[in-house]
Amino acid sequence: MSYLIAKASAPAKTILFGEHSVVYGEPAIAGAVNKRAYVTIKESEDGKTIFRAPDIGFEAELLTEHKKYILLKGKPGIIRYILEALYKVHDHSPIDITLNSNVPIGSGLGSSAAVTVATLAALYRYHNIRFNKKSLAHDAHMVEQAVQGVASPLDTLVSTYGGLVYLSRNKKVEHFNVNFNVPFVVGYTTKHGNTGKMVKDVKNLKARNPKIINPVITSMGNLTNYAKQAILKRDFDKIGELMNINHGFLDVLGVNTLELSRMVYNAREAGAIGSKTTGAGGGGSIIALCPGKVEEVARAISRDDNVLKIRFTRKGVSSRVYK
Ligand code: MEV
Repeated sequence: MSYLIAKASAPAKTILFGEHSVVYGEPAIAGAVNKRAYVTIKESEDGKTIFRAPDIGFEAELLTEHKKYILLKGKPGIIRYILEALYKVHDHSPIDITLNSNVPIGSGLGSSAAVTVATLAALYRYHNIRFNKKSLAHDAHMVEQAVQGVASPLDTLVSTYGGLVYLSRNKKVEHFNVNFNVPFVVGYTTKHGNTGKMVKDVKNLKARNPKIINPVITSMGNLTNYAKQAILKRDFDKIGELMNINHGFLDVLGVNTLELSRMVYNAREAGAIGSKTTGAGGGGSIIALCPGKVEEVARAISRDDNVLKIRFTRKGVSSRVYK
């Protein structure tokens, strides 16, 4: 019997412009970052299917036919994505699955998409199933949707293709062909935001105040389009200015918190040329553009909150099989 090992990895992502307004059909810009989820799948030696994530201290035996698990160690979280991916692709033969990741939990960098894309790619390799980036991004989106109920296709798309991606008003995806290797600092709090609740809160605010909020959402879309031009020109001052305006719009939508604003203003005071909430808000994370000031900005945020230094990367999913 041949002994198979399949390995895959996929990047985490962050939203640069367009969170919340994208829910109403406005454009968005998101990018893959240099933090990744790594998944290894091999045949099991004891007839059981075991999932291990040593970085987060999690271990479970999986009953893949029933989408169930027996908890052996740690707190469940990402396991639902693994079970859903296995249910879609796997033949239920016993395997060992290991997840390693340098995406900190709670950093708001969309680790579920990275894990889902890497798991599916490793499974396809393991079973010798043909796939391409388009089919993988689609399948990963289906997994996220099955687990979360609603999910934006942007996360899995970015984790699959890598790079910076622009999603237009008519849902066309464009990949930026530009060198955007500037340093950003991500700040995150221990308070987690609830994306579903935040999206609902914005919807209710909009329904109560349509004449005020509708034009704001349209302006956020226009801002994202200006940001696209600024990125293409590598005009960092303009990108920073637009990030600051975007943060103000997110304040209008009511998704910012004391912690998010604290990080945003700490970053600016320490020399960031732009900083804003990233993702759904209500807790979670901010992103600061700070060429030449990374250490200063990181130090300022870390006085009260957590930091992560990131860069955007062109590297999307990658996978291999060893026999
Ligand atoms: C959450 O990361 C981004 C939101 O726009 C929701 C979504 O697009 O699914 C708030």
